[in-house]
Amino acid sequence: MLSIISGGAHPDLARDIAALLRRSLTPVDLARYPDAEVVRIQESVRGSDVYIVQPSPPPSEGHLFELLLLADAAHRAGAAQVTAVIPYLGYMRQDRRAGGERMAIGARVVADALSGGRIDRILTIDLHQPAAEAFFSIPVEHLEAFPLFVAALQDVPRDSVVVAPDLGAAKLADRLAQALDLPFAVVHKTRTTGVDVTSTRVTGEVHGRRPIVVDDMITTGRTVQAALEAVAKAGAKGRAIVAATHGILAPEAPALLASLPIERLFLTDTVPLEAAGGIPGFRPVPVAGLLADAIARLHEGRSLAWTRSQR
Ligand code: R5P
Repeated sequence: MLSIISGGAHPDLARDIAALLRRSLTPVDLARYPDAEVVRIQESVRGSDVYIVQPSPPPSEGHLFELLLLADAAHRAGAAQVTAVIPYLGYMRQDRRAGGERMAIGARVVADALSGGRIDRILTIDLHQPAAEAFFSIPVEHLEAFPLFVAALQDVPRDSVVVAPDLGAAKLADRLAQALDLPFAVVHKTRTTGVDVTSTRVTGEVHGRRPIVVDDMITTGRTVQAALEAVAKAGAKGRAIVAATHGILAPEAPALLASLPIERLFLTDTVPLEAAGGIPGFRPVPVAGLLADAIARLHEGRSLAWTRSQR
């Protein structure tokens, strides 16, 4: 038996996944008290292959803890197997002590908590660093939004250039450029604080070309802003196309993105996208199909190889 449970982070996505799998969500009671949270699964999951859908956008800690509670409830209720479906997994940018001494490695802390015994495996999309999979002692089934973006960008003008807004996105941009048969460029970004970035140099030919900026996530929008300014200085023309997997939009991001010369903004719905709704040119890219297909394959013991390409 297959059971799909939604935490409180993104019930719309859980419902979309369940509908594609022709199931109803297993009802849960998520009660929040001033000093605690109590969860209860309201129908039997004994012997079930349980999938708990819970991305971790802010407040990440609350969403992650609720996921741990639901996994514990499923485990204690006799579930045969518990899979945490975490389309966006937060804290993965903190994968080393990049800021210097005496820092925590948040990715490792989260991986240890999720690997703690109640969750048998994780299904996720576009971890900030694919290598962060190694932090987990349980299997991580790692999907990519890449094929969804390739499909969404088929009609882009032929005089475009795919732009990585920083070195971390270079491989993604290179692969996308190859898939779309377009040239590619990289912007060199320096992060000066948690929110401030500067981008100065551009490697690759952007003169006279329309930029397609790709990244794994947008938070404040400053990375996209800095990249667009850098390529404009280097002679790029026209309004940009921007595609990112996770739209973890900080409160100031929608206004900033709306003010930039962006014609189309593609964000997947790994997290709720209400904040993006008012941004001109915003186009949601649904991930329910990708996740539903992966869940069906996992449940039936079939390979996920088709969803992965060379990262
Ligand atoms: C950083 O390495 C990520 O790939 C994104 O470029 C970054 O998280 C975007 O953040 P923001 O929108 O705040 O500049």
